[in-house]
Amino acid sequence: MKLGVFDSGIGGLTVVKSLLEHELFEEIIYFGDTARVPYGIKDKNTIIRYAIEAVEFFKNFELDLIIVACNTVSAYALEEMRESSACPVIGVVESGVLATSNALKDKNSNILILGTKATVNSKAYETSLHKQGFVNLQAKATGLFVPMVEEGIYEGEILDATLKHYFKDLETPHAVILGCTHFPLISNAIQNYFGKDTILIHSGEAIVEHLEKEFTFETKYKNPKLKFFASENPEALRAVAKMWLNL
Ligand code: DGL
Repeated sequence: MKLGVFDSGIGGLTVVKSLLEHELFEEIIYFGDTARVPYGIKDKNTIIRYAIEAVEFFKNFELDLIIVACNTVSAYALEEMRESSACPVIGVVESGVLATSNALKDKNSNILILGTKATVNSKAYETSLHKQGFVNLQAKATGLFVPMVEEGIYEGEILDATLKHYFKDLETPHAVILGCTHFPLISNAIQNYFGKDTILIHSGEAIVEHLEKEFTFETKYKNPKLKFFASENPEALRAVAKMWLNL
């Protein structure tokens, strides 16, 4: 299968990392809209417009599937992307909900949803988790984590102070949904903050779980073809991809 992966920037590379670990695809075309990141502070219509432009970009590649490796886009523009795409489009929010529901047996579990301002305002996770019967939900927009990850800050004093700033008044949750594909890069710090009993839900792992449920993957691809595109400074994105994905 030939796959397209879309994110507003470099965050979606954390999803590519999970896909590569599971050796599911023969070819992966990644597109990061680095010229217009962050999406998480933009309004719904702008996010939809950018997402449809990404579908147009992918039309050059005859893909079998597009993964929206951005929670913000998945929360607002999935239907519109599906309408304008010739191949199926799946998003990380539905996968994250599925993974949460598989991980937590108790519907009273306290779930903390982290995301950009746009993702949190959309209530996409809450709406779907409520449908699954979960009642004890809290959501927190933690947008500052996005530029920090883009800056390569994955640990240390600044991150610790930011974690405290966002989380100091919260009860320790049973599960944290890392509802932004940038956040797995700081998952160690989040895990240390809440302690080892808190389960972290990661968009990349969630999408693999979802794909393996929906599709049959008969062949493993150890050395898939990878192509990385960006709307601005593609060399910088490729350098980050090389580092994060050990290419
Ligand atoms: N990686 C995007 C997400 O998962 C967020 C980054 C942004 O604000 O563009 O929501």
